[in-house]
Amino acid sequence: MTICYNLADFKQALSLIPNSYKIGFVPTMGALHHGHISLAKRAKDSCNIVIVSIFVNPTQFNNPADLARYPRTLEDDCKKLEEAGVALLFVPGVKDIYPQSDNRIFDLGGLDSTGEGPRRPGHFNGVAQVVTRLFDIVKPNYAFFGEKDFQQLSIIKHFTKEMQYPVEIIACPTIRESDGLAMSSRNTLLTKEQREAAPEIYRALVKAREVASAQILSDNGNSLGITPAMLSAMVADEINSNPLLETEYAEIVNSLTLQIVTDWADAEELQLCVAVNASPVRLIDNIKLK
Ligand code: PAJ
Repeated sequence: MTICYNLADFKQALSLIPNSYKIGFVPTMGALHHGHISLAKRAKDSCNIVIVSIFVNPTQFNNPADLARYPRTLEDDCKKLEEAGVALLFVPGVKDIYPQSDNRIFDLGGLDSTGEGPRRPGHFNGVAQVVTRLFDIVKPNYAFFGEKDFQQLSIIKHFTKEMQYPVEIIACPTIRESDGLAMSSRNTLLTKEQREAAPEIYRALVKAREVASAQILSDNGNSLGITPAMLSAMVADEINSNPLLETEYAEIVNSLTLQIVTDWADAEELQLCVAVNASPVRLIDNIKLK
């Protein structure tokens, strides 16, 4: 695996790739786990060459303490990527990505009006800044993103289409620990007690999916009388019943528009999205309800 620590070296490495090659790209912030590696493997299955980037993007952190404590494990990351068959790793510095400060404001199509959007002001604009910048540099044919960050994936799909980037966005399923906790670089920051509590999040999501299925089926006949708002509240209560977890939001949204639904029939596809504080760590997860 070739590792490039600056833009000039990376451009040089890119110039050696044959024009006919399909380039698969996996942008990350490092502290890699099986979730990230599953994206690289998926890319390897469908592309001639896989490029991964590791860049802890300052513009998407609305909380400086979160940026400061973000785990950095480059040596370990390199080993995992090498094993996964990644050919080229780009580890740029801030000046490579932002030679001057990036003042671009993106149209996110209202997809940032729920979930993480209002709770992390500027976060998705920062994601759009770095992802477009990386796309401009790497010029991939395919880019791979995890459903773990469902809202991020929707927003990236949106601006890629709006801005007519010639790159296909491929969604990859969430990889979980054996106890159900969605893999995340931030999981390493949990205390032992918090780590033991955290699987409750996914348990609550699975339970909610069962209730939603029963409710949606029964809506064809006699309703169970549970609205999406009621189910969201039940999920929050369930998670909060563990004293180490505090739900920041639990929202049932239209999977395409990410707007909160008030009725089960409001959308063809529904997603339940949550953010939970295991302070100071913030965990997000989601599940498809229909
Ligand atoms: P990061 O959190 O490092 O995630 C990189 C990619 O891995 C994202 O597409 C994310 O959705 C995916 N991912 C993370 N955990 C996953 C899991 N458990 N299962 C499957 N995929 C998972 O997301 C970012 O970085 C940044 O915002 C980035 C897109 C790189 C822009 O800075």
